[in-house]
Amino acid sequence: MTLPHPRPISGASYSAVELSPGDRDVVMLDQRALPGDERYARFTRSDEVAEAIERLVVRGAPAIGIAAAYALVLAASGEGSGAESFQASMSAAAERLRRTRPTAVNLAWAIDRMMAVVREVASLASGDRVARLAAEARTIHREDVEACRKLGAIGAARVPDGATILTHCNAGALATGGYGTALGVVRAAREAGKQVRVVACETRPVLQGARLTAWELVRDCFEVTLITDSMVAQRMRRGSVDLVVVGADRIARSGDVANKIGTYGVACLAQVHGVPFYVAAPWSTVDLGCLDGDAIPIEHRGEGEVLSFGGVRVAPEGARVDNPAFDVTPARLINAIFTERGEASPPSEQTLAKLA
Ligand code: MRU
Repeated sequence: MTLPHPRPISGASYSAVELSPGDRDVVMLDQRALPGDERYARFTRSDEVAEAIERLVVRGAPAIGIAAAYALVLAASGEGSGAESFQASMSAAAERLRRTRPTAVNLAWAIDRMMAVVREVASLASGDRVARLAAEARTIHREDVEACRKLGAIGAARVPDGATILTHCNAGALATGGYGTALGVVRAAREAGKQVRVVACETRPVLQGARLTAWELVRDCFEVTLITDSMVAQRMRRGSVDLVVVGADRIARSGDVANKIGTYGVACLAQVHGVPFYVAAPWSTVDLGCLDGDAIPIEHRGEGEVLSFGGVRVAPEGARVDNPAFDVTPARLINAIFTERGEASPPSEQTLAKLA
């Protein structure tokens, strides 16, 4: 596989999402095909990117925010009209993107940031509008990588040499602009000269841990042990997990954290076994307008994700399904939240306000 981009902002040898150099198409590593097949998909229209976000071609809170920002560049390319109709059609594209996945606040955050630029450039010539929006989208992408590196270094200070770190879902380079949030902590710990091992939960139903986290870590020569989600308790009881680090899709003002379904269970088990539980996320994941975890919208996904495994149906006709994609971990179960602005420890309205 060769990366179809000469200088990916991600800085890695693979990239979740990039805008092509001519600003004409968005290129994504199709995460549905990993780990078996490393193939890139190209999109030339904003609505195609929206559909790709819904179908998990790209996923992970920061990465879908970046994808939406790039999608708005494509939307602007198709518009040669006057200021008013430009703004109207950009708003329609933004609303379509906003509806794709409700929990990850980075999506709405990136769209709002791009729409502020849309208002500024509405009266410019078409080519200038596109150039200005492309520059903003790339800045969002670049800043995310920088944020991941900073919060990774802050989190790495809490990682003892020789530690075994458990993570759930994928909060790595594939879920962000590059480098990763939870896996950013893992990468930064190694860069600081520490030996680290990772235990990755497979993360039912979509298997981000097995398919994506393990893929990233094996590729970067980390020692990674894959477990099914039901093995966490036994692992912790045996004392073979030193700390947990996960990502986040939205952090409420109270410090409650929405993340991939199963995270709350891991946090409960960590508390019972006295294992430190950390969350790593860029500030764009913090939603101070959201009072607490109960106010976070939780996405429910299709029943096929639960009824089937690897494309094979595993449940009888007639079985009902509940498939919330995320759960909420209350702040009281979290030792610290690492952001590029510093850490909220323990997370609370007060400690987050100090970073705001
Ligand atoms: O449904 P997904 O795969 O988009 O969910 C992703 C997660 O829950 C991640 O753990 C979270 O977005 C953090 S990404 C840095």
